[in-house]
Amino acid sequence: MSAVREKILERPETPDFACLRADFPILNQQVHGKPLVYLDNAATTQKPAEVIEAERRYYLEYNSNTHRGVHTLADRATEAYEGAREKVRGFINAAHINEIVFVRGTTEAINLVAHCFGRAFLREGDEIIVSEMEHHSNIVPWQLACEQHGAVLKVVPIDDAGEFEFENYDRLFTPRTRLVAVTHVSNALGTITPARRIVERAHAAGVPVLLDGAQAVAHGRVDVQYLDCDFYAFSGHKIYAPTGIGVLYGKSEWLERLPPYQGGGQMIRTVSFEKTEYAPSPQKYEAGTAHIAGAIGLGVALDYVSRTGLDAIASHEAGLLDYATQRAREIGGLRVIGTAKEKAGILSFVLDGVHPHDIATILDHHGVAVRAGHHCAMPVMQRYEVPATARASFALYNNRADADALVEAIRAAKEMFKR
Ligand code: ALA
Repeated sequence: MSAVREKILERPETPDFACLRADFPILNQQVHGKPLVYLDNAATTQKPAEVIEAERRYYLEYNSNTHRGVHTLADRATEAYEGAREKVRGFINAAHINEIVFVRGTTEAINLVAHCFGRAFLREGDEIIVSEMEHHSNIVPWQLACEQHGAVLKVVPIDDAGEFEFENYDRLFTPRTRLVAVTHVSNALGTITPARRIVERAHAAGVPVLLDGAQAVAHGRVDVQYLDCDFYAFSGHKIYAPTGIGVLYGKSEWLERLPPYQGGGQMIRTVSFEKTEYAPSPQKYEAGTAHIAGAIGLGVALDYVSRTGLDAIASHEAGLLDYATQRAREIGGLRVIGTAKEKAGILSFVLDGVHPHDIATILDHHGVAVRAGHHCAMPVMQRYEVPATARASFALYNNRADADALVEAIRAAKEMFKR
């Protein structure tokens, strides 16, 4: 992402981000009598009207099951669903459409790989590498797999800035290393990890890599062929699409080799009581009726983001993050948690004498929505010896006025607790 970021700064034509805000109807409301300032985008993003409309039209006009019918509505639904898969393929530049598996979200994608890879390849004493800045969804599925197969989880530490410690990563490899699972962008710190280098190092040892892209796809261009990762997981709802739909990208060679995840309809070629043959990927991993409307909505959201331009979005959000960070740092007693050189639009912080939950509650009364807590990344909180942080996270529709409102509300919280 960083190389892309450098390129964009020279890009002459920039979309009018102020106008784009009007595409998100939910933003036009008041909370506690104040204009809503939505800065909880790392938890979930808002949806443009065209995504909501695409879902609505599916249910109003051609709701039907995919791949199963020969009637007109079923054809339309199948075409739209598979069309969305092709959009995802193009969006992340996957080589083949069979490498795109629709799942419920990042969590399910990672569980799928942990479960299937574990069954096929993990043995007693094998090792999996994760980093200290992972979301629980990129820790717990591997712990479950390790527990089941007698494997061991090894952890790459992060430094005080929240950077991935590459040298320590390098040292963790042994002949028993079977897989690396690392985030592309930390949800708690905003760190952009050196994903391509991480993959290169692992491949030098013949080890596949899964990247958790939940916090990355909406904030910079992702090219899975450039990254050369073996698996890439992301959620639709973090890229302006509906909840309940997400993507697992897997290289064909892996998706062909791994066993299925769940059994059921759609994932088979033939079934008899003696023997079942599985369908090829992606159907092999898509048992049961899919979230058809969600996939269609995801396709429309990706069109929206592509039209806006990932490079322009990355540049816009980087500018906002720099501005907000600089202004927040002017507040005495505020400490930014996560100061990596390469960051996506996440500003995590603590404020002396005020619990992050209190900060978030007071901010809410100023109309400012942020998340407070451990952000499903408890090891990160342990690393910084804080119980929680408050976290503002930016999206394409945010602007400097939002950052100003955030800072003013934090100042108000500080004042309130001084008394
Ligand atoms: N993983 C989401 C977050 O970071 C929910 O808030």
